[in-house]
Amino acid sequence: MSEQRPGPGIDTSVSHVARIWNYWLGGKDNYPVDREVGDQILGMLPDVARLARASRLFLNRVVWHLAAEAGIRQFIDIGTGLPTVDNTHEVAQRAAPESRIVYVDNDPLVLEHAKSLLTSTPEGRTAYIHADLREPDGILEGAAETLDLSRPVAFTLMGILEFIPDDDEAYAIVRRLLSAVPSGSYFAMYDGTNVVHGAASDRIVEVWNAAGNAELVLRTPEQIAGFFEGLEIEEPGIVPVTHWRPDTPGEPEPVDAYGGVGRKP
Ligand SMILES: C[S@@+](CC[C@H](N)C(=O)[O-])C[C@H]1O[C@@H](n2cnc3c(N)ncnc32)[C@H](O)[C@@H]1O
Repeated sequence: MSEQRPGPGIDTSVSHVARIWNYWLGGKDNYPVDREVGDQILGMLPDVARLARASRLFLNRVVWHLAAEAGIRQFIDIGTGLPTVDNTHEVAQRAAPESRIVYVDNDPLVLEHAKSLLTSTPEGRTAYIHADLREPDGILEGAAETLDLSRPVAFTLMGILEFIPDDDEAYAIVRRLLSAVPSGSYFAMYDGTNVVHGAASDRIVEVWNAAGNAELVLRTPEQIAGFFEGLEIEEPGIVPVTHWRPDTPGEPEPVDAYGGVGRKP
């Protein structure tokens, strides 16, 4: 594999969430340090590769549902990750070309690649904000330059709240974001659990936390459901991402990532 030359501000001495995730999804925007940790974890629990792909497909089905069926035209995608196939704006604008999408991530390499996310249709708009989820006010302020926050917005927080280990802080961030948007807005997320693989999932978290740039916690499905307090949870509820409105026939094998979609009443 031809190695990318790291740009300024890119630390290749420690593995980064966005880059390991990119490696597991089959991308090229990662460094030896990321592949080393990625491979170590895959060696312990090969199902992680399926979890990464299944989570991404969940994101795509959710965004399609929100744009094509729920009529949402404004999205704030926090914890975007490195650009890949079918980024949020591509899925949303396929359903509704006028959709506007604001991407948010705190990883310097995602910032470096952000231009691949700024490929909006002429009718719509995309923007990128380099920011931390722990500062929701700044995110809302930045998003208001592209979106009309007096009209419904969908927040997609896919695989990011698990990097806010404190439950109260994580719940408060979601409440703050949703307090800024009107009734008819949506919140969608998934996070890691240990329901399927038990202690094996717990062990990979230990490896991740010893090696990576951001501490990860697994939450129970009940704790994940706590993010949806006060929202109308859409069918089929808070479920393994593989079980959220699958578009292939048959009973899917669950993965250790649970998520769902809620509507602000
Ligand atoms: C597991 S990846 C998920 C990427 C994408 N949402 C997906 O589902 O495929 C988590 C992303 O969240 C970002 N992230 C983690 N903690 C963050 C924080 N506190 N603020 C902003 N972004 C964060 C990481 O840089 C990474 O790109």
